[in-house]
Amino acid sequence: MREPAKLAGVVGWPIGHSKSPLIHGHWLQQLEIDGYYLKLAMPPRGFHAGIQKMVELGFSGTNVTLPHKEAALQLADDATERAQSIGAANTLWFRPDGSILADNTDGEGFLNNLRQHYPDWTASDGPALVLGAGGASRAIVYALLADGAPKVIVANRTQSRAELLRDHFGDRIEVVDWMNLSTVLEEAKTLVNTTSLGMEGQPPLNISLRSLPQDALVTDIVYSPLMTDLLLAAQRRGNPVVDGLGMLLHQAVPGFEMWFGTRPVVNQELRDLVLGA
Ligand code: ATR
Repeated sequence: MREPAKLAGVVGWPIGHSKSPLIHGHWLQQLEIDGYYLKLAMPPRGFHAGIQKMVELGFSGTNVTLPHKEAALQLADDATERAQSIGAANTLWFRPDGSILADNTDGEGFLNNLRQHYPDWTASDGPALVLGAGGASRAIVYALLADGAPKVIVANRTQSRAELLRDHFGDRIEVVDWMNLSTVLEEAKTLVNTTSLGMEGQPPLNISLRSLPQDALVTDIVYSPLMTDLLLAAQRRGNPVVDGLGMLLHQAVPGFEMWFGTRPVVNQELRDLVLGA
């Protein structure tokens, strides 16, 4: 008998904006896999029951987005070390024995995006300066430390949130005042914006890059616009830059491989598809 089509999806509330169906749908089609990737709107109070329903229906797993990332970690029977350390999950795997494994692939997506553009880049090259201390920052700080960053300097408008990161990740984290960025820019080998500043409809990110070394890699998690003012300013002064779209695409790779059994590639065709949507 033919095996049933494999099922996966993305759950969130709201979910209308999610680009994940486009990404996974493209890979399913390109790799000629008999499978479906569905977008499911799930309100917070229905999250547990909704996930249980997906397990019963035979889903292989699901991506999880706002506001369920912490709840997804809580609900799982097991979690990868990185999901536990980040404190949130974006990928669930429904194992054949009925148990649920939680993972967080955001940090891997972040690193693989940088490596795709600059294969020689490694976080161990030197200190990283991370702007922002929210959920995205946590995943990126984890990844930078795991990749060997000797120091990660975190600046956030609300300094107490940056201090929470230091308490959690330990003494390779240094917290600086948002107003004193210029004093630490000269140390940075990697500069990452994880705030929403610079996104369409949000206030601009106004920082001077004057003291940033010219070989420091600059990247932004904002991908709308694709080239943020930060990336344009960095590019103008000759710094290597990587836009944030690739992080979104690369974070999807491990989930797809786990559910559908083939590791997909992130290429220009996929970028163009998502950009055009
Ligand atoms: P995400 O999960 O995308 O990281 P988040 O947890 O809401 O979202 O974090 C948003 C980040 O953008 C935070 O670092 C936030 O700073 P605060 O912790 O001070 O709120 C930052 N951010 C948002 N708007 C900002 C603004 N107008 N100025 C400075 N930082 C801002």
